[in-house]
Amino acid sequence: MEWKQTTALVTGASSGIGEQFARELARRGCRTVLVARSEERLRDLAAQLAASGAIQPVVIAMDLACEGAAADLKRRTDAQGLEIDVLINNAGYSEKGGVHEIAVLAQERLIQLNVTTMASLVSLYLPGMRGRAKGVVVNLASIAGFLPLPTQAAYAASKAFVLSYTESLWEESRGTGVRILALCPGATATDFFQRLGHDVNAPKHTSQKVVEVAMRALEKDRMTAVVGWRNAFLSRFLPRIICRKLAAIATGAVIRNAYRT
Ligand SMILES: NC(=O)c1ccc[n+]([C@@H]2O[C@H](COP(=O)([O-])OP(=O)(O)OC[C@H]3O[C@@H](n4cnc5c(N)ncnc54)[C@H](OP(=O)(O)O)[C@@H]3O)[C@@H](O)[C@H]2O)c1
Repeated sequence: MEWKQTTALVTGASSGIGEQFARELARRGCRTVLVARSEERLRDLAAQLAASGAIQPVVIAMDLACEGAAADLKRRTDAQGLEIDVLINNAGYSEKGGVHEIAVLAQERLIQLNVTTMASLVSLYLPGMRGRAKGVVVNLASIAGFLPLPTQAAYAASKAFVLSYTESLWEESRGTGVRILALCPGATATDFFQRLGHDVNAPKHTSQKVVEVAMRALEKDRMTAVVGWRNAFLSRFLPRIICRKLAAIATGAVIRNAYRT
């Protein structure tokens, strides 16, 4: 795949997996468009990338969990004359707690970011990619998308949406020149658990490993990439051998045990 001279928009580029995507794509010769709320972190990253010889990144600081955020972002990239060839739909987070405990607004924002903005960004940038017969869309799903996850119900459901949506999109995009990937990490060492308010007592992959897996999967035009063999077992094999009811009970027990108090 040719990455040089393409323009890559990375949402959630201010930390973790998104930051690593931005570093990797810049290293491969892409011009990066860095999007998240933390403007200072984005500007620091942009300065580091430019200092390492990458094309000067574009920084767009904005909240993607608001209604209309995707259209607003598209307007901003259009206004700067940016043609997006690579869309890394990465911004996302989880809320922890029973459904009865999570505030309605918090749940609405999660669904807006993880589901609505993610899908709207695809709708807005995909036609341009198809018109140019060239493009890449990576949507950040999770192994949480394969099974129900008590205490993170909306998060797991949002990732199930990302997974199913991206699988359909992969088929629709065959032969168009646009590659589509649903990327499914398991626990990864980023700010994710700090934002969640709880660390998890489980082995974690690095963001570098997650991005390496994604880049390899894109080269092979895979539809879905699960990071790590343990996660592959949990997400691909387990759902085939246990019923959904048992899966909910088992993941509920495992997740409550995994959170350090
Ligand atoms: N870490 C894991 O264990 C894991 C596992 C599976 C899947 N994932 C998925 O991987 C993706 C990246 O997460 P991560 O692990 O890299 O976590 P992270 O380090 O917390 O990064 C999350 C990124 O999303 C951005 N973001 C959050 N809310 C936003 C909003 N309202 N508007 C704009 N940007 C927003 C954050 O930037 P600002 O705060 O600056 O806005 C940050 O750049 C997420 O979709 C997550 O669900 C993570």
